[in-house]
Amino acid sequence: MIVCVCKSVSDRKIRVAIADGMDSFDELQFELGGALCCGKCEESVRDVMEQSGVCASRCRVEHREHVHAAPLTFYERKAA
Ligand code: FES
Repeated sequence: MIVCVCKSVSDRKIRVAIADGMDSFDELQFELGGALCCGKCEESVRDVMEQSGVCASRCRVEHREHVHAAPLTFYERKAA
């Protein structure tokens, strides 16, 4: 599923990048381009990072008790 509409970055791309060793939000931003345009996807990118096991000190997402039960927020591209 697309997480960043502006740069067409999917959750799968983020997970692959993390599996390849990227473990900070800044690295993912630089390599994939996500959250560099409008920025609306930043929280979703950080959620994918957290769910992929990147610790809060790297993705800057505070661990909350309900975070794993909360659904991700994705933005859909609207037809013109
Ligand atoms: S949706 Fe990711 S930068 Fe706009």
